[in-house]
Amino acid sequence: MAYIKELSKFEGQEVELKGWNAQKRDSKTIVFMTMRDGTGFTQCVIDLAAVGENSFEAAKRLPQESSLSLKGKVVKDERQMGGYEVQVTSLQVIAVAEAYPITPKEHGVDFLMDNRHLWLRSKNQWAIMRVRNEIIFAIHTFFQQHGFVQMDAPIFTGNACEGTSTLFETDFYGDPAYLSQSGQLYGEAMAMAQGLIYTFGPTFRAEKSKTRRHLSEFWMIEPEMAFYDLKMDMDVIEDFIRFVVTTVLEKSKAELQILERDTTYLEKVREPFIRMKYEDAVDVIKGEKEIGGRTSLQMLEGEEKELQIAKATLLTEIQEREAKIASGELKKGEINFNQSKIDKLKNEVKDLEEKLLNIPVWLNSAKNFKRGDDFGGSDETVLTKMFGQPVMVYNWPQEVKAFYMKEDETDKGYAKGVDLLAPEGYGEVVGGGERETDIERLKSKIIEHDLPMSAFEWYLDLRKFGNVPHAGFGLGLERLVAWICGLQHIRETIPFPRSYGRLLP
Ligand code: 4AD
Ligand code: MG
Repeated sequence: MAYIKELSKFEGQEVELKGWNAQKRDSKTIVFMTMRDGTGFTQCVIDLAAVGENSFEAAKRLPQESSLSLKGKVVKDERQMGGYEVQVTSLQVIAVAEAYPITPKEHGVDFLMDNRHLWLRSKNQWAIMRVRNEIIFAIHTFFQQHGFVQMDAPIFTGNACEGTSTLFETDFYGDPAYLSQSGQLYGEAMAMAQGLIYTFGPTFRAEKSKTRRHLSEFWMIEPEMAFYDLKMDMDVIEDFIRFVVTTVLEKSKAELQILERDTTYLEKVREPFIRMKYEDAVDVIKGEKEIGGRTSLQMLEGEEKELQIAKATLLTEIQEREAKIASGELKKGEINFNQSKIDKLKNEVKDLEEKLLNIPVWLNSAKNFKRGDDFGGSDETVLTKMFGQPVMVYNWPQEVKAFYMKEDETDKGYAKGVDLLAPEGYGEVVGGGERETDIERLKSKIIEHDLPMSAFEWYLDLRKFGNVPHAGFGLGLERLVAWICGLQHIRETIPFPRSYGRLLP
């Protein structure tokens, strides 16, 4: 048996494939079937003369997503996905599928989410999961090559890490326990045992709102490094993200092509990342500081104009094509061609209109941003739009960051935390920083944040026995998958997403 991924090895030879009928179209004597076998998609040509009447009729009647095995010759064909097609000589149906709910026509996203267990078979979803797999592999590769030890942090925890507002409470033999929001505190303990560690596990946040960036269950990668400060931490973040993105760009070319991902901005990870303090970032967001000769407000107004011009151009083309159709001089084929162009253009107009709606929102939040506040999605978008490449913002006001962040002794009131913001509106993908080592300050922060001291005694021990400076960060896997794949929404980045209002399938 062969796999579609390796068809090039079998050019000119006969192979056996096992898979599913993803899609087909047929005529009197020939069926073109797109077969998928898990490793890829390929066109199989089923010719009446080659397979005989019985097999041909079976193929012709075969419903979408039926399973089958077939034998055929591998033939080079540049026009086909993967560059090959299979000219079938015999086939056998394994299981005839019932009427498949996901057809080649457009479906609403709620319908697709309800059928997530089947939607995973569709080409785009298949490609996303392949990219996710490459990302995971690249993440492990980076840390393993740099001498980090992978550790598994517990899921049941007795304490909050990132604040109490997003805790999922559960019953642990009669006592309350919480699903882990982050493995960091355990990672800190392990770093004192192993030096360099990283966790890779599920984390949970009760986010009572539906956004395109939040899941209730997501996977986080959290390295923790003994004897590292904030600057060293940022260096690791930069090297790490550069390695993962460039590796995946190379290894997942075919999948990114399926997703029609324009990789221009991803390629920018090869250049040094922008690093700036929170206060400077605020200047940029509010339009008080120019970057490349323009303020954020000028940038947004410029973008608004560009979008309006692009929209006007599309509308003119639509009018021209409609006029052609109305003239009555076109043949049927030409009418269809123009009509499908018009439909496509109208969709593009819709996209532009949506983008145009965002701009006043961004402008407003940029103008009205309150210095000292945490960044919202709009603020992150405006800031990264100014650079078009990853931006690391560090030295945040202490009040907006977690209890464990170290205060910068030379910059009082600011925490040595860092967020990495991805361009193209993806925003925060990494959060991290240097950890507070002063036990007294930690204790007062625990009280300030209204956390129960007793649950943190073990954590405070780490400061009593061989206290050292240390730092780390957390990467949200799904945010990275969304950015690399260029997805509008985080729900497509994980096989079975869990979010507010979504527990099935
Ligand atoms: O910034 P966060 O909250 O940082 C921590 O949890 C630290 N303990 C990490 C550390 O220093 N070890 O979360 C880290 C990352 C975010 O940057 C984001 O990418 C992702 O986790 N994240 C989420 N992803 C999806 N859905 C959510 N609800 C997320 N919340 C955070
Ligand atoms: Mg954060």
